Amino acid sequence: MDGNGRWASRRRMPRVLGHEQGVEALVRTVRACAERGIEYLTVFAFSSENWKRPEEEVSGLMKLVLVAVSKHVQQLAEAGVRIHIVGDRSKVSDKVKASWDQAEAATRHNSRMVLSVAFNYGGRWDIVQACRRAMADGLGPDDLSEATLARYMALSHAPDPDLFIRTGGELRISNFLLWQAAYAELYFTDCLWPDFDAGQLDAALAAYAARERRFGDVKPATAPARTAEEV
Ligand code: IPE
Ligand code: MG
Repeated sequence: MDGNGRWASRRRMPRVLGHEQGVEALVRTVRACAERGIEYLTVFAFSSENWKRPEEEVSGLMKLVLVAVSKHVQQLAEAGVRIHIVGDRSKVSDKVKASWDQAEAATRHNSRMVLSVAFNYGGRWDIVQACRRAMADGLGPDDLSEATLARYMALSHAPDPDLFIRTGGELRISNFLLWQAAYAELYFTDCLWPDFDAGQLDAALAAYAARERRFGDVKPATAPARTAEEV
């Protein structure tokens, strides 16, 4: 979700107001995804590296978490969204931790759509924490496979992403889902995150639909056959 700061600067507004509009864009996008039958949405809200930002911006973002949870979680819960927070919680304040606990608890029985919010997350952090937890469980070198390590990754509750969208015009992954995005289709747009809406989402989905996915094979992957009941 990149481009909040530039969105605000272009309007001669403080960056934190761009982040506020970013929260509105997120809620809009969650709803649009749910309406389209998307079952898993994972968003990058705060990276392990974002602590380097000026103190004022970091504390503004932390306050925004508290506001966003109290303002939006109830409605998302009623819309059938289940929230998971992924990332290193050890460095966030007790207030932010309590907000995350509240968001997860209030939505834990939902199953229409899973929203994973990556916060104080980094793709490299995720791989290292997965290895450490696997080792703590007593797994040795011979026990470790891609499948076993995947069970320790922070997003083990979600399938690998099909589509990876970055707004804000930069053409890089910036330490997001390094492990999980191995075969994700990448989509980059100049749209700044606060301007992202259902139309932007549909453009990304249309681009995705036109891609040919081969997963290393020579022929396009076909959808698994469905039984009559499922159809
Ligand atoms: C992304 O927007 C939001 C967060 C990292 C929290 P930015 O704050 O990176 O916005 P730009 O890139 O400065 O426009
Ligand atoms: Mg940015």
